[in-house]
Order: sequence, then C-alpha cells, then structure tokens
Amino acid sequence: MHISNPIVFSIVGLMGQVAMGGASATATKACQEISKALPSRVSFPLSITYYNEAREYWSTVLRDLKPACVILPESALDVSAAVTILNKYPDVKFTARSGGHDPNIGHATVQDGVLISLGKISGTTYDRNRNVALVKPGGEWNEVIAALNKEGVTIVGGRLGIVGIGGFLLQGGISFLSSQYGLAADNVVGWEIVTANGTIINVNAADQPELAVALRGSGSQFGIVTQFTVRAYPIGKVWGGMRIYDESKADAIFKALHEFVPYNLQDKKAAIITTNIFAIGGTRAFIMFYFYDGETPPTTGPFADFLKIGSIIDITKTQTYPELLKSNGFGASLLNSRISFRTLTLPYIANNGAIYAEISDKMRDITKGFLSNPFKLTSQCSVDFQPLSSIVGQHTEARGGNAMGLTGSDPDRLILEIQCSWSDKNDDDIMRQFSIDLTNWIESRIPVWVGGEYGPAANVYLPLFMNDAMADQNVTGSYRDYAKFKALQLQADPQGILRTRTGGFKY
Ligand SMILES: Cc1cc2nc3c(=O)[nH]c(=O)nc-3n(C[C@H](O)[C@H](O)[C@H](O)COP(=O)(O)OP(=O)(O)OC[C@H]3O[C@@H](n4cnc5c(N)ncnc54)[C@H](O)[C@@H]3O)c2cc1C
Ligand SMILES: *[C@@H]1O[C@H](CO)[C@@H](O)[C@H](O)[C@H]1NC(C)=O
Ligand SMILES: *[C@@H]1O[C@H](CO)[C@@H](O)[C@H](O)[C@H]1NC(C)=O
Repeated sequence: MHISNPIVFSIVGLMGQVAMGGASATATKACQEISKALPSRVSFPLSITYYNEAREYWSTVLRDLKPACVILPESALDVSAAVTILNKYPDVKFTARSGGHDPNIGHATVQDGVLISLGKISGTTYDRNRNVALVKPGGEWNEVIAALNKEGVTIVGGRLGIVGIGGFLLQGGISFLSSQYGLAADNVVGWEIVTANGTIINVNAADQPELAVALRGSGSQFGIVTQFTVRAYPIGKVWGGMRIYDESKADAIFKALHEFVPYNLQDKKAAIITTNIFAIGGTRAFIMFYFYDGETPPTTGPFADFLKIGSIIDITKTQTYPELLKSNGFGASLLNSRISFRTLTLPYIANNGAIYAEISDKMRDITKGFLSNPFKLTSQCSVDFQPLSSIVGQHTEARGGNAMGLTGSDPDRLILEIQCSWSDKNDDDIMRQFSIDLTNWIESRIPVWVGGEYGPAANVYLPLFMNDAMADQNVTGSYRDYAKFKALQLQADPQGILRTRTGGFKY
C-alpha cells in the first residue's frame, strides 16, 4: 500500500528542491512542452500520480530521488513524442523505467530530469502462427507468464515473478529455463525501439543480426524498447519452490552445488539458486530455490542429492509455472529495504569444491562485526551462487549470440549475486562496501584457485552479468566484443543522447 499523504510528501519534496537547487528551469520547461504534446500523460510534483510513480521502486534507496516530472506514455508514439521534444533540451537528463527493480541510483531513476515510466505500456499476447510472444515492458513477470500459460506456452523469463520485464530482457536475464533455451535476451528476436532521435524502428534479428546481438545484453543504450518479440516454448506443470536450511547444512549444500554445475549439461530441466544469507551476529542460513521442468524431480543424481538434505522450511511442490513464480517472489516483495547488488563471474574449478565455503566464510568475516550490532537487526547480506552451465552458451550461439559473449565452447561458470539490505540511510556506504570488499577479495583469489586447470588466469573469460551488477562495475568493458558494440552504439546514437543523458550501464 502506498503511504497516502501527498501534501506532506510535497512539502518535504519542495524543501528538498530548495535545498538542492531543485529541478532546473530547463527541465521544467521540457516537462511543460511534453505535457502540451501529450496532455494528461505528464505529472508534476504535488500530484498524487507523481508521488506514487516517484516511489515505484523495489529498493527504497531510489524513492529518495525526485524527477522534475514523470511521463506515463501509453504507446510507442507517446514515447517518441517525448524523446523528440527532449532532443531540443540537451541539458535535461531522462530515463526509462520498466519494473524499477534495478537497485542502482541513476539507472531507472533521474534526479531533476524526466522519468519515462513504462507501466502503462504493458501486456503480453501469443502469436501461435509464429510461435512468439509479443511482450510489452510494463508490469512484472507474474503477468507475462500467467498470460502465456493459458496458451500452454512460456518464455525464458524471471525466476521471482515480481521482477520487472524491460530491464530483465535488455540486460541478459537468467531463468530457470536457461539450461534448456539460453538467457532470456537470447530468445528475443524482435525489438520495437524509440531511438535517440525519437524515431520508432523495428529491429528484426534475422535482418539485423549484429544489432540483435548488441541488443541482447547492452541495457538501455540503443533506445527505449516498447515491445519485445520473444520465442515461445511449451510448458506444463513444473516441480519446485523454496527450501530453507540452517548453517549446519553448509557442507552438504556446497558439495551438492559443486556436483550440480557440470551435471546440468545432462539434465537441462533442472535449475537451482543457492542463496547463502548472512544475518544477525554473523549467523548463516541458506535459501534454495529449486526448479524442475516436469511434474516430478529426478530421484538420483546431484539435483536429487540436494533434495535429500534436511530443511527447516519446505514449500516445494508440483504446481503450474505461474504459481511457482508467484510464490518465489513473495518474500522479496515484502523486503521494503535499502538494497544493493554486486556481481562477479566465477570459473567452475572441477578439482576444487572448497571455494564456495571460502567465499561464504569471507563474507561472514566481512559482515560479522556490523551484523552483530543489536541496532542493525534488520540488516542482512546474501551471496547467491547461480550456476551458468556450459550448455547455456550453446543455446546462445544457436540463437545468434549475445552481448555478454557466451558461446558454444564456453566452460561451466557461476554467476555470483551479492545482495545487501538495510534500513538506515547512514549505512548506505558501509553496506555497499561489504560487497565491494568481497568481490575485491575474490578477484585476488581467482588466479590462485584457477592454478593449472585453465592455464593463465588472463585466459579465462569471465564477463560480468549486467542484471546483477553495481553501478560502478565496468560490465560492458568485461564483454569480449566491447569495441564492436561501442562502435554500433555510436552509430545508433551519434550525438550521445542515450550515452550521456540516460541511465544504466554504458559502453
Ligand atoms: C527480487 C529480484 C529478483 C531478481 N531475479 C532475477 C533473475 O532471476 N534473473 C535475472 O537475470 N535477474 C534477476 N534480477 C535482476 C533484474 O533482472 C534486474 O533488476 C532488472 O533490471 C529488472 O528489470 P526492470 O524492468 O525492473 O528494470 P528497471 O529497474 O526498470 O530498469 C533497469 C535499467 O534498464 C533500463 N530500462 C528498463 N526498461 C527499459 C526499456 N523498455 N527500454 C530501455 N531501457 C529500459 C532502465 O533505464 C535502467 O537503466 C532480480 C532482481 C530482483 C530485485
Ligand atoms: C571499461 O572497460 C573498457 C574495456 O577494457 C575500457 O576501455 C573502458 O575505459 C573502461 N571504462 C571505465 C569507465 O573504466
Ligand atoms: C534517427 O535515427 C534513426 C535510427 O537510428 C535513423 O535511421 C534516422 O536517419 C535518424 N533521423 C534523423 C532525422 O537524424
């Protein structure tokens, strides 16, 4: 529920504007001109729509930022009209927001600039003849997957149903279905885009394969996407859900994880997320998300080994795919905290199953002092170990490739997602630093862990995963074809409008 006191909010907002200089006169002028072109689509401070839209973010950190106005377009034409006008105001920043789940300041937020909220450009339809879904960026995965499930199909999408659609599909997207069909972005075959100069173009992967590759993992840099065309796949009932374990199961869980990563190649229908949580006083726990694309999970092999470990809470069962996603997202929807993400890509080292526990111990040591403070009881951090099986790159390559540079000859890897959440604004820097300290330490350890297995560490290709990254991480710089995509971006945006004035990771 929204806190519905817009008057108090506005007074606080006005005070903030006075203190910070407020939205510039040019930003306000741009907003007014857009408002003239798109009557009733633009909301300004003091209005309830503005108040609600400016708070529509998963991480509460982002609710502190105040755009000059919020545009709520209802079509690509509306977005085009707004971007065309913004072209006349080179000093005004603007940004698009789909679900608002990216926790980084300045990505889907814009202090004193123009926020283009895509919430009303929403809805999913299935084109049976072409076997593709037409997906608009507003809303959340719960809605997309529920709509498609009625047709007996699905697309490669979010694992927690509450997550937003546009950012997920533009920044990569790891799904429970990725070992069967690749990353979410790999399965996008068409994009309707409002480009830097406001023109609407349709990019088709078959006609523009190079641009298609760039669009699969470059984020917001090629324009505002108003519709995605995505390959569909059949889906029936699935098995899965969440189980929670206490710290005593750490060894068993990490052993099963180590065996699961290469096993995924043999059983592509199985998927897991291993979440290692660090909370009060340095206590540790595990949340495992399990998924099996079938009514019953296997009874032998590494996936089955996980299921034999005794849990303290178990809500796994056979259910529909929309039911699973909905229940997976429930906990995260209640969080209501300041949150940070940071990522790192780990090589899978067959002869070393000890690194997960080393990483876990390190994160406990980094956070223990802080988390032992009785005044910080609501703070926690977690490290997610997400297997990225070699098979994923085979699907990527078969579909033409992605910006992250996954290929058919990829080794097994794991993508780490390091999350912290807290409630006190004064802890923002401390909490982010915990994740930075951990990734710095891991980066120093990787050459030691890799040892002889892969040869020199420099040869291991470990691109960063954009959807899980912190704003300061050079995600695009970690991509193999960075220079090529940078050139393509320059071509699409010669004046640097998207590069310098909008939010998100850049080339
Ligand atoms: C609870 C939770 C669970 C998650 N689970 C997963 C998971 O299973 N797998 C995974 O891969 N990731 C996961 N993520 C990460 C998630 O993919 C990213 O946070 C993603 O950015 C969310 O998409 P969004 O639409 O909410 O993005 P937003 O926050 O709205 O935007 C993110 C960035 O993309 C840009 N952008 C958004 N929409 C458009 C558009 N239509 N056109 C142009 N630019 C646009 C914005 O300007 C911004 O720079 C999860 C995140 C959360 C919070
Ligand atoms: C990111 O990495 C690329 C490629 O190595 C490099 O050229 C670029 O300068 C880096 N950007 C920043 C901001 O460090
Ligand atoms: C606007 O951008 C599109 C796509 O990048 C391009 O084809 C077109 O020529 C541009 N129009 C103008 C007037 O610059």
